Amino acid sequence: MRVALVQNSPKFGKKEENIHRLFSLIDQEKADVYVLPELSYTGYQFVSKKEVEELSDSLDSKAIRQFKDKAIELGSVIIFGFAERTEEGFYNSSLAVLPDGKTVLYRKSHLFYKEKLYFLPGTTGFSVFTYKDMRIGLAICFDWFFPESFRTLALLGADLIAHCSNLVMPYCQQADFAQALVNRVYIATANRTGTEFREEESLTFTGESVLVSPRGEYLLRGPEEGEAILVCDIDPALARDKKINPYNDVFKERRPAFYTLLGKT
Ligand code: ACM
Repeated sequence: MRVALVQNSPKFGKKEENIHRLFSLIDQEKADVYVLPELSYTGYQFVSKKEVEELSDSLDSKAIRQFKDKAIELGSVIIFGFAERTEEGFYNSSLAVLPDGKTVLYRKSHLFYKEKLYFLPGTTGFSVFTYKDMRIGLAICFDWFFPESFRTLALLGADLIAHCSNLVMPYCQQADFAQALVNRVYIATANRTGTEFREEESLTFTGESVLVSPRGEYLLRGPEEGEAILVCDIDPALARDKKINPYNDVFKERRPAFYTLLGKT
């Protein structure tokens, strides 16, 4: 199973241009699954609800159709972040579009910083779906800071966590080592690069998209700056083996009864 990390540097608000650029990166490498960044074609730093209204997409919009058509054309899965418009408000979401036309939606559970001004906390919970022989779980950026997120996906049976990101802090790419290791899963953190300067505030995104194996090996690492597509073959069987030696199976040996606070809050 070949996984691609797509690292871009979108121009804020230039949806068509950003989608075109993402597709030309995708066209450079053949893969079974492409993981793209969070808010992958709008840019990140919204400064008003009106702007989110203008740049967001409902699931039947033209932009989403373009991604579906691309997945069908390639015969591959594309997982990308976008600003989702719904009747109740906006979500910071990711969508997996499959080559049979099906989709799997995830809405970010843990909103970061000023996202809280514009987006609603996710309502889907963590989603896992199967493609070919691979179980793929969905998470978005700051979800990583809550270890329950990747743990839950691993307990739901994910072999690969597709982690669409717009990281601004320098820690996640290192933290993926521990999260991949203790959960025995592959983690694909697809991150963006570039700086957005909007209404007196500048945010710089840290690039260095990574793919980490269940053994904590860095299989891929993108550049700190600039766009890139990186590919690697992975074996889901490795993520299903939760044994670290003949005596220790790190999932079978969990002690959930001891992990509750038992009234000691
Ligand atoms: C983030 O959640 N975009 C840091």
